[in-house]
Amino acid sequence: MDTLESIYTRRSIRKYKDLPVEWELIGRIVEAGSFAPSAGNTQSYRFIVVQDDEKRKQLASACVQQYWMEQAPIHIVVCCEIRIGIQMYGTRGERLYNVQNTAAAVENILLAANNFGLGSCWVGAFDEAMVKRICGIPDFARPHAIITLGYADEQPPAPQKYKLEILTYFEKYHNRIKDINVVLGEYSPVVAKHAREAKEALDKGTSKLFHKISKKLKDVHRKVTRKNP
Ligand SMILES: Cc1cc2nc3c(=O)[nH]c(=O)nc-3n(C[C@H](O)[C@H](O)[C@H](O)COP(=O)(O)O)c2cc1C
Repeated sequence: MDTLESIYTRRSIRKYKDLPVEWELIGRIVEAGSFAPSAGNTQSYRFIVVQDDEKRKQLASACVQQYWMEQAPIHIVVCCEIRIGIQMYGTRGERLYNVQNTAAAVENILLAANNFGLGSCWVGAFDEAMVKRICGIPDFARPHAIITLGYADEQPPAPQKYKLEILTYFEKYHNRIKDINVVLGEYSPVVAKHAREAKEALDKGTSKLFHKISKKLKDVHRKVTRKNP
């Protein structure tokens, strides 16, 4: 499965088959988490893999009674060593980078799980003190997320998503193109043609031609952005 396919087909899974997950897969999935980007490569994320039945029951209870979690044969508690962000970047490190580092790791884990045919769910609603106690997490660390992992026993429909034009601005906040598909639809074949020609020119080492085509590409881009209201 390629990266984009994994992104588009991933779903939050809350029903699992009564099947164990191979340790080799768990290892590779956690490793994918550890390959997430992190501010200054500080890698402040830590992963607790929980397989024990009793512990998973306690975790489900700590997650505001989300008892469906018990069915998942594996829980991964993604923690953050908060002191690392603070030491390196002060308040910004503590409040922003620490959270972003673990979030990036969580997303990598979800995508890797999907890649290996496993279901997962990002669980954020929990009593932190309870989770810390259950997993013996020290004061200098904080649980940020719990990921359930296992073979899916449901196929949830794709959730509703906002249209791209609602979420996307050009050049400045609130600057929208009314119908992004019209603009991209009209111009994308033109851009694709010029881009192909530019690559061919580069491959042939004809830099003059490349600059000519690259100027054409910039003109097209300017036309597109001029459509902004
Ligand atoms: C920060 C965060 C916290 C979440 N917490 C929970 C949770 O506690 N329980 C749960 O069932 N799903 C939780 N989810 C999963 C979302 O409900 C889910 O991602 C969303 O409904 C979109 O569905 P999808 O993941 O299938 O695309 C959480 C997701 C995120 C990103």
